Amino acid sequence: MKDRKPPKSNPIRDSKNRIKLGVFATNGNGAAFTFHPDRFHCTWDANVRLAQKAEALGLEGFVSAAHWKSFGGDDHYSGDLMETFTWAGAVAAVTERIGIISTVHVTLNHPVFVAKAEATVDLISNGRAGMNLVLGWYPPDMQLFGYEVKEHSDRFELADEWMYIFDRLWSGRKSFDYNGTNYTLKDAFSQPHGVQARPVLLNAGRSPRGREFAAKHCDIAFLSAHNPEPQALKKQVEEYRHEARTKFGREIQIWMSAYVVLKDTVKEAQDYAYDYIVTQGDDAPVQNIIRNNAIDTKSMPPEAAAKLAYALKAGFAGYPLVGDADHIAGLFASLSDAGVDGFLLTWLDYEGGLDRFGREVLPRLEKAGLRSTAEKSLTGLQS
Ligand SMILES: Cc1cc2nc3c(=O)[nH]c(=O)nc-3n(C[C@H](O)[C@H](O)[C@H](O)COP(=O)(O)O)c2cc1C
Repeated sequence: MKDRKPPKSNPIRDSKNRIKLGVFATNGNGAAFTFHPDRFHCTWDANVRLAQKAEALGLEGFVSAAHWKSFGGDDHYSGDLMETFTWAGAVAAVTERIGIISTVHVTLNHPVFVAKAEATVDLISNGRAGMNLVLGWYPPDMQLFGYEVKEHSDRFELADEWMYIFDRLWSGRKSFDYNGTNYTLKDAFSQPHGVQARPVLLNAGRSPRGREFAAKHCDIAFLSAHNPEPQALKKQVEEYRHEARTKFGREIQIWMSAYVVLKDTVKEAQDYAYDYIVTQGDDAPVQNIIRNNAIDTKSMPPEAAAKLAYALKAGFAGYPLVGDADHIAGLFASLSDAGVDGFLLTWLDYEGGLDRFGREVLPRLEKAGLRSTAEKSLTGLQS
């Protein structure tokens, strides 16, 4: 496996763009819960078109989501998610520059398997592989494998062990024994080796323990906005960076997920969003998510639960980028001023949505100095 040299740069980690962008969740039926006819239907052919389009536009990342059971019962569309390493290997083969992220349930996927699977994607993509590490919160995902969702602190104890093992398997050139609380390994070793010194790692910890995990181990932390006002966000972003710097001496990027509804006018975009989210929204799976305590929802007052249901239906609780192109470009600028480095984008209609975003929003971001042109955006992997 010596025919590939380590790349000098990674499309996500080393991007010079002030705002970095990725497309999220096309390995399944997108991020919205709705019966609207424009809803994305996942097919492999659509993934090829979207990955190649995103790359042609200079976007940094193509990012999968991972769940094992649907949120709405057997055969509900939210369960149709392609497995994320298989998907990543295939995306790698039909693209050349974009970063490819497999979302991985740390609690369900053994680090020995993951080290080999991720190295395989890294070899196929020549150093464009990365992982979004999720710990698992949805009981049916865990029960499918015969587990219960672990207590929060136990989850993170396991994740720390997992990370230690993964890192040694990835970069080690000598086998090792490991005896921990969650794993026991004899003569652990992983081959083939990937081409990167370490894949790009993403994490969406929200709790103090989750934030600490991201700050300690990951390159990118996802922020869930407690308060969408840029000034409040700025404080949250600074706290995150401060923690990474002072506790671990590390610099991390702060990203958010966001759903895009781009129309000719702000009013038209708002009306369209209301229609797909409220009038034609798919409420049952979202109530199931809320019942299953996705994000500390058990003690939520009803108004807050209603807000969360709206946000989940809109685009899995991403930040709302709803408006015309000027309005959306303005939102990007203020979020960038607040310190946000990147966004994972979702649309109701990914194919039409990404095309229009490329035509109308990207040129505005380039003009504002927030991104370079498509040709310059992806740093390119020089061997
Ligand atoms: C952008 C983003 C993507 C996520 N993707 C997934 C996913 O694909 N699968 C999953 O089980 N959880 C996913 N999560 C949930 C998180 O992994 C995590 O459970 C949550 O942020 C709670 O963190 P905490 O344990 O620190 O409270 C995602 C969260 C965010 C913000």
